[in-house]
Amino acid sequence: MNTCVVGLQWGDEGKGKVVDILGERSEVVVRYGGGANAGHTVVIGDSRFALHLLPSGAIREGVLCVIANAVVVDPSVLIDEIDGLAQRGISLADRLFISENAHVVLDYHKREDQLREESLGKQKIGTTIRGIGPCYADKVGRSYAVRMSDFRDLGALAEKLKMILAYKNKLFVALYGAEPMDVSAVIENCKKYAKRLVPCTRDTTELLHTVIGEGKSVLFEGAQGSLLDLDHGTFPYVTSSNSSSLGLPSGCGVPAKMVNKYIGVAKVYTTRVGAGPFPTELDNDTGEYIRVKGHEYGTTTGRPRRCGWFDGVVAAYSVKIGSVDSLALMHLDTLTGIKELQLCRAYDIDGKETTFFPANIDRLAKAKPIYETLPGWDDDLSEATSFASLPAAAQTYVRRIEQIVGKPVEMIGVGPKRSQTIMK
Ligand code: GDP
Ligand code: IMO
Ligand code: MG
Repeated sequence: MNTCVVGLQWGDEGKGKVVDILGERSEVVVRYGGGANAGHTVVIGDSRFALHLLPSGAIREGVLCVIANAVVVDPSVLIDEIDGLAQRGISLADRLFISENAHVVLDYHKREDQLREESLGKQKIGTTIRGIGPCYADKVGRSYAVRMSDFRDLGALAEKLKMILAYKNKLFVALYGAEPMDVSAVIENCKKYAKRLVPCTRDTTELLHTVIGEGKSVLFEGAQGSLLDLDHGTFPYVTSSNSSSLGLPSGCGVPAKMVNKYIGVAKVYTTRVGAGPFPTELDNDTGEYIRVKGHEYGTTTGRPRRCGWFDGVVAAYSVKIGSVDSLALMHLDTLTGIKELQLCRAYDIDGKETTFFPANIDRLAKAKPIYETLPGWDDDLSEATSFASLPAAAQTYVRRIEQIVGKPVEMIGVGPKRSQTIMK
């Protein structure tokens, strides 16, 4: 049984928690895209783990962890993450495999990300400044790209880096008036990265086809959310990869039909970090209530997340493009205490009702959410262990989301901990 877990909104839906739970029945967990812009939280008892590049299955001893081709790997973040887990008694020795074809994020990518964002002023995307866009741009451009396999020949890599830095430094100085970067520091860092990561580097496509052929169960962990997908999200306010489940086949060389099940993760409200359209955003006390109660601050950057009502048009779109079979709804506990809840079931665009999400932001700008009002509840849900034990209003709210989105809910989050999850 191969399963994909994918975010249905603008990221931070609770994918880390869902992957951790499903990791119990998985032998292999794979990150198929994105980079250290991701921040996936796993909470077990009083221990909290925030993972940026390692798949969330890393927390479970014995699970094989794969970082596939389309992930952009920041070696410094990855090594810190491996060492951080080791300090907490979790070893990745002999169970971490990084694609030799994965592209590498180096310091000049992060500098380029920052300089470009600063230069854009009000037009900025609000990136995580993790060098994601510049690294994927170098991948598409090909000539200035560095891949994990380049760490195997440090002499050739040093020559390549000299050529790349000559180009990047011209850009930094002439375009942004910034200081040039010292190529020797970049080369020295690469030597350290190579020593640590070359032993884990291999052909992960072959590895995945082998384990799938052996009947092992593989869990594919999406990063970001479907609405941040470069081709299908709210461009240009997106990330630079195919972060919907459409990115899985190209991201790791496993065809979509080899994946038996797609689970879409969504919060029972909506959040977004960074700039870009957000039709159901609540720029008021209710939005602030959700932010504070749900601890809605970025796992990677600490930025406050923008909060709003659940958007069924967004979720239904992500379900369609992502061939999602069932839903994991997180943060039901966070809505406790709100008297009336609004659910967006359609948009009004130029006086016409539509239930199909317009990803083009010029059309999206005209979208006015059409809401249904449902009663809230005051009960603390954090101890609930079954759907039947939830207050009637919470059950109705979940059922209405199922109807609007058109897929059954199989998991409900009532708190950040692994144990605070109801299997419906
Ligand atoms: P991801 O990027 O999709 O893995 O999500 P993040 O980890 O960035 O953000 C989700 C946040 O919500 C984390 O702080 C989780 O610990 C927390 N969380 C997940 N599920 C629930 C839930 O059901 N209730 C509450 N209160 N917190 C949750
Ligand atoms: P996880 O996996 C939420 C957002 C950034 C910004 C845009 C582009 O934790 O859900 P980038 O650095 O990728 O160039 O930024 O995408 N973004 C995320 N938002 N969760 C994420 O990951 C995100 N990864 C990128 O905030 O708006
Ligand atoms: Mg996150």
